[in-house]
Amino acid sequence: MMIETHGLKKSFRSRQGRDKKAVEAVRGVDLAVEPGEIFGFLGPNGAGKTTTLRMLATLLEPDGGQATIAGVDLRRDPGEVRRRIGYVAQGGSTWDESTAREELVLHARMYGVGKAEAQRRAAVTLEAFQLTEYADRRCKTYSGGQRRRVDIALGIIHQPKVVFLDEPTTGLDPQSRAHMWDEVRRLREEGMTVFITTHYLEEADALCDRIAIMDHGQIVAEGTPDSLKQEISGDVVNIGLSDTTRASDVLGSAEFVRKLETTDNGVRLYVDEAGTAIPLILRALDGEGIALGTIELHRPSLDDVFLTKTGRTLRES
Ligand SMILES: Nc1ncnc2c1ncn2[C@@H]1O[C@H](COP(=O)(O)OP(=O)(O)O)[C@@H](O)[C@H]1O
Ligand SMILES: [Mg+2]
Repeated sequence: MMIETHGLKKSFRSRQGRDKKAVEAVRGVDLAVEPGEIFGFLGPNGAGKTTTLRMLATLLEPDGGQATIAGVDLRRDPGEVRRRIGYVAQGGSTWDESTAREELVLHARMYGVGKAEAQRRAAVTLEAFQLTEYADRRCKTYSGGQRRRVDIALGIIHQPKVVFLDEPTTGLDPQSRAHMWDEVRRLREEGMTVFITTHYLEEADALCDRIAIMDHGQIVAEGTPDSLKQEISGDVVNIGLSDTTRASDVLGSAEFVRKLETTDNGVRLYVDEAGTAIPLILRALDGEGIALGTIELHRPSLDDVFLTKTGRTLRES
């Protein structure tokens, strides 16, 4: 495992009000992240994503629990953990007056890289993040997407084994976001483990190999996006046909059908996986000579998963 945690906890003392109630930001988190995967932390604002990340990145001391990162115990040797990781904060950094190249060289040298090698790495990284064109311009002239790319370049210039990215696409336009996804995938191709937080469902779905859904300081579900969606309800297949009675007889008893409902213009089937079910459905209907009008597939979304686990939708939260 690249990251393993058991019972990680953190509370904050609330500043406002007379009741000195503690905010339990992270309430016992168990995680296992494999080398070379893009692992996503999905949850609404206030779920505890940043607090967890800051603990794993040695910026915040846990109140309880354990963690091992890149083979190093977080509590016993936070200094060594810090050398092996990269961390890109939510909202990014402020270095308006310097250029991306200057920042990259500085950052590499902070990690003990020699001057010539730091300059070489800066050039390679600028090229990889398509920043060469702006490399010697002051950062305050950059667009939001360019700034975020510099942030991430800074997070990986010292070639960490794992990089933590806290909401790297929040506030970006769709095009810059898609661009950022490509950057993150490229890091994975280079063998890096990427731990990313997001409150965008589409992002968790499209980008992450595995995700943990977090709510109120706890992980409420974990798995690949596909397995999570299937665990909830399987796939739904809507079939348009006129002979609903006979279709119900034939399909209702089929073992690959979890549940069957009749609809206005046909039947609706709940199946484990549409890819395997659809050929079976077609064969069963054809075998009985039942004419098929339309067939349409509905896959549950991660929001359906969130709703099932928490009773509300992520879009509302
Ligand atoms: N330094 C802090 N002091 C007090 N409360 C905090 C602090 N940091 C975070 N919190 C609270 O902890 C909870 C989790 O916050 P956070 O980890 O930032 O969530 P997320 O990143 O998922 O939006 C929230 O209720 C937040 O208000
Ligand atoms: Mg956050």
